[in-house]
Amino acid sequence: MKKQNSIGQPYRRIEGALKVTGRAKYAAEYQVEDLLYGYVVNSKITKGRIESIDESATRAVDGVVEVFHHDNRSSLPRFDLLYSDMDAPPGSPFRPLYDNKIQFAGQPVAFVVAETFEAARYAASLLTVHYAEEEFDVDLKANMDKARDPSKGLATFIKPLPPGPRGDFEKAYAAADERFEGKFHHGSQHHNPMEMFATTTVYEGDGKLTIYDKTQGTSNSQIYVSNLFGLSMSDVRVIAPFVGGGFGSGLRPQYQLVFSVMAALELKRNVRVSMDRRQMFTFGHRPETFQHTRFGATKDGTLTAINHEAFAETSNFEDYNEVVVNHANMLYPADNVTLDYKLIPLDRFTPMDMRAPGGSTGMLAIETTMDQLADQLDLDPLEFRLRNYAERDVSSDKPFSSKELKECYRQGAERFGWNERQPTAKKVRRGNRLVGHGMSSGIWDVIALPGKATATFTAEGKLIVESAVTDNGQGTYTVMTQIAADQLGLPLESVSFKYGDSKHPLSPIQGGSYTTGVIGSAVKAACLKLKDKLFHLAQIMDGYPLGDALPEDTIFTDGAIILKKDPSVRIPLTDIIAFNRGEAVSVSKSNVPNLLKIKQYTRAAHAATFVEVEVDEQLGVINVTRAVTAVAAGKIMNPKTARSQILGGMVWGISMALREETLLDNNLGKYVNTDLGEYHIPVHADVHQLDVIFVPEEDRIINELGAKGIGEIGVISMAPAIVNAVYNATGKLVKVFPIKLGDLL
Ligand code: MOS
Repeated sequence: MKKQNSIGQPYRRIEGALKVTGRAKYAAEYQVEDLLYGYVVNSKITKGRIESIDESATRAVDGVVEVFHHDNRSSLPRFDLLYSDMDAPPGSPFRPLYDNKIQFAGQPVAFVVAETFEAARYAASLLTVHYAEEEFDVDLKANMDKARDPSKGLATFIKPLPPGPRGDFEKAYAAADERFEGKFHHGSQHHNPMEMFATTTVYEGDGKLTIYDKTQGTSNSQIYVSNLFGLSMSDVRVIAPFVGGGFGSGLRPQYQLVFSVMAALELKRNVRVSMDRRQMFTFGHRPETFQHTRFGATKDGTLTAINHEAFAETSNFEDYNEVVVNHANMLYPADNVTLDYKLIPLDRFTPMDMRAPGGSTGMLAIETTMDQLADQLDLDPLEFRLRNYAERDVSSDKPFSSKELKECYRQGAERFGWNERQPTAKKVRRGNRLVGHGMSSGIWDVIALPGKATATFTAEGKLIVESAVTDNGQGTYTVMTQIAADQLGLPLESVSFKYGDSKHPLSPIQGGSYTTGVIGSAVKAACLKLKDKLFHLAQIMDGYPLGDALPEDTIFTDGAIILKKDPSVRIPLTDIIAFNRGEAVSVSKSNVPNLLKIKQYTRAAHAATFVEVEVDEQLGVINVTRAVTAVAAGKIMNPKTARSQILGGMVWGISMALREETLLDNNLGKYVNTDLGEYHIPVHADVHQLDVIFVPEEDRIINELGAKGIGEIGVISMAPAIVNAVYNATGKLVKVFPIKLGDLL
């Protein structure tokens, strides 16, 4: 009796054809009758007050319906309610149009609603806002003396602050045979998903709203809108089945959602508000960060001392935090450790999670520091990491729930041909290009959260599974369908996963690489409960076909329950529904992680990346000619979509190391490269041979599925491996990222 197994199969995305043929609709694409369009006006100053707004020219434009700003916005019963959204850091969240105060450049100050998008945009350009400018401070480097501890809150529970010191760092560092000290910097980065933020709000009458929103959490947007506008949750429905990339930008509701809903409620009309590419640079971003590392080791290559400090920007109204400095001692068991993480509040918008927040930042400093020490010790970088391999997490004194990093090193090195690496710079040339090899470890913490799902078996023989979760494009829809199919032994075609809609069971925001673990476990739990219910119905069917068989004596396969010892006893699931008077059987189930158990372990996905670069000696141009990333992230649900996740992460790593930075002019207080012409990301010509290995790993502790998550682990080890390869090629260590052409000349 063979049970169907779709988990582990490389299925294509179920919605793939819809997307490539343009039939998948995104938030700004829904055809809605009598639609009004909003266009947002952003502040031209960085800090100060709005003194007055002259609307006359704007209102004179044909088709303009209304102009909203702080002076005439609708009253909002709970506008200053502190609860904001599922990803809100501690502080008092920014509310658009709250008052006349300007707190950051690009802050939305008004929005114009018109019968057409063109009229709204043109009319918005005619709005005259008179400002009283105040002095601002956006310069991170100049304000290092303001560095302070982050305030504690829910965010610091999910993203823990650094552990306290161990041993005596200063003494051990002074006594070390080899020491390396590094000062690193990277600028801000803005997420730029293909789909820009947009919301189409349909006014259903009686204050009921249907909202098509670009978001990473339909439940999150629903709760946010209900709270802000004082509406009942049941009157607010948020729909987002297709999301054109998020990378963290959609973890918090953005201002177009507020405006779309505000106008719909006020005008009792349907309203769409979309942002343009420049406006995508007016909210959260990866924070600019300075880092300082000091690592010490003995002659034989044992790491004895680790000091890692990070200084990151935040806004003057919220304390955004991320895990930057916690990982070195999780990976390398030195006994003398001091870690520090500080925030510096500035007149900028609050940073927010961007793919592998903190981890990618911290590991860039940690892993390049490791390579420099290896170089000083005359050790191969991989050998140095193996000599300091942590079998146990000494930083928290806990075992790992599972850790196949050693296997990542081994398989990655073999596939790459690491043993051919030349330890000395400028040894290998191809024409006028220097060739270098570099590697890096990767680690990403596994976050466990509760999740909920509904499972229904219908008279038509279909399994319907529901969750409000979104699919940012990585394959959640397909993977959830696979997980559900396997529980009831059904082919994929018999399963329909309903998602991306707040009417389904509440889901956390889709982020932190936890969706497969959290929602996947809930889907599994709901399906198991449904299976149980179907079995108990079958037991009491006419003639008692199952006799005294227990659930474990049967198997669900091919749409039927079959007796293991006598497969001729076969009860089609549709017969069970018929016996149930034709009524579908439906269950709902929450999956709550067993914190008592999992808290006893350090839970993380691991990776190792190996990179080859070519550096043009005359021009300083860097090409990442090939790279291999080996990943151990627990059970892989779908190797095709998982591979795409890692490939995307690797491309992002190229971007971090070589391209991406939002440049801030400290005198203007503004970002100056706010479009995709000047905000550089890798293009096809930058992406060469990328290879992904999944090292077998099944985590029996983390969750029922054994899955750790793969959304972020692919980013983390790529950038440091590139920096290390550039060092290996040129003998130059660049510590200010992204690396620029001039750095190598
Ligand atoms: Mo991710 S930065 O948690 O969307």
